[in-house]
Amino acid sequence: MGSQDSIRYFPRKDLVETIHGLLTSGLTHALTMFAGRRMGKTLFVKQELLPAAETWRWRAYYIDLWVRRDNPELGLVEELEGFVERKQTLKKPDKLLAKAGYGSTGIQAEWSGASNPEIDLQGRLKRAMRALVGQGDESVLLVVDEFQTLAAGKHEDFVSTFRATMQELQPQLKLFFTGSSRDALNSMFRKRKAPLFESAMSLLLPELGDDFVEDRAAIFEEITGKQMDAAELGKVFHKIAHVPMYLNQIVLHTMLSLTADPWEGFRRWQRELGDQGSYEEQWLKLKPVDRAIVEHLASRQPASLFSAEFSAKVTKRLGEEKPYTPQRIQTAVNRMVKNMVLAPKGEAGEYEIEDRALEIYVAARTARPSDR
Ligand SMILES: Nc1ncnc2c1ncn2[C@@H]1O[C@H](COP(=O)(O)OP(=O)(O)O)[C@@H](O)[C@H]1O
Ligand SMILES: [Mg+2]
Repeated sequence: MGSQDSIRYFPRKDLVETIHGLLTSGLTHALTMFAGRRMGKTLFVKQELLPAAETWRWRAYYIDLWVRRDNPELGLVEELEGFVERKQTLKKPDKLLAKAGYGSTGIQAEWSGASNPEIDLQGRLKRAMRALVGQGDESVLLVVDEFQTLAAGKHEDFVSTFRATMQELQPQLKLFFTGSSRDALNSMFRKRKAPLFESAMSLLLPELGDDFVEDRAAIFEEITGKQMDAAELGKVFHKIAHVPMYLNQIVLHTMLSLTADPWEGFRRWQRELGDQGSYEEQWLKLKPVDRAIVEHLASRQPASLFSAEFSAKVTKRLGEEKPYTPQRIQTAVNRMVKNMVLAPKGEAGEYEIEDRALEIYVAARTARPSDR
């Protein structure tokens, strides 16, 4: 929904100052911030943290590991090397610059010349971090979005090198990691028994509350001239599990419905998720085995995707000649991770549906088996 990006940002009071206080306290140089997907981590970082870092006269850099999740180690190294090369900071982190910060084709083209870009990845990581921090004397803030993506990486040594270099570059280098999976973040920090990781303080991104809802109702009124019942909008917000992105969409749908009733917007939003929306299309594009997997995850059944029980169920349901095995399920899962339908949670063998809305859609249609 393109119009999403232009919707007015709701500032998160005090959070930036808390972060500044912690990172300059001398007690910690690294913070992790957890919140579920679509709860506003990236927006907070881009709208508030990076601009604030500039006012503190820090050099700030933003890396989104989510878009590099096919190979997060290589992604991290390439992004850092890109910053060193461009000798530029994200001054005004708007969409364009953020995009340029992603593995831009320029950097990729440059490295694709090497026969094996993964050779000496740890050496490259160390050199890039040192070079980047060494470009000046000021504090450097490295923000790594969806940091837990590295937990699914294959090289433990790589994370050790990252940690060691982080430590070597303190106190000049400050780190801010976001993560969408509390388990993955925790497990990563525990697993790597790293002194720095253990000392990285964890923060929660507070859920947006009534003041956010009232602000959205006020926007509605500014644009339409009609009054929206903020209490009702609050009930809608509760119904959608306090996901701010969905509330923005619902306010827009209410405008489009030419009423001031947020429940009308909610119904339109739900309908869009369903019949007319892209979710039906996404669903239809899935292979039969994919659908079985996605339904299993959406219905939150306890059995592992890789259990003999689940394989047997899929075999029976699809009625194909060749039986399904956990290996074949894994192949389908890997394909869907690549296609961004599923996301690894960071714990081995644990996956979730990437888009909460697709999950809501699939759960709803699974409850209506006659449609299948
Ligand atoms: N503070 C906010 N003010 C207004 N809208 C917000 C805010 N935080 C989140 N949103 C809405 O939620 C969407 C998802 O936010 P995002 O930062 O991408 O989430 P995350 O990075 O946690 O997955 C945004 O595109 C926006 O519509
Ligand atoms: Mg994000």
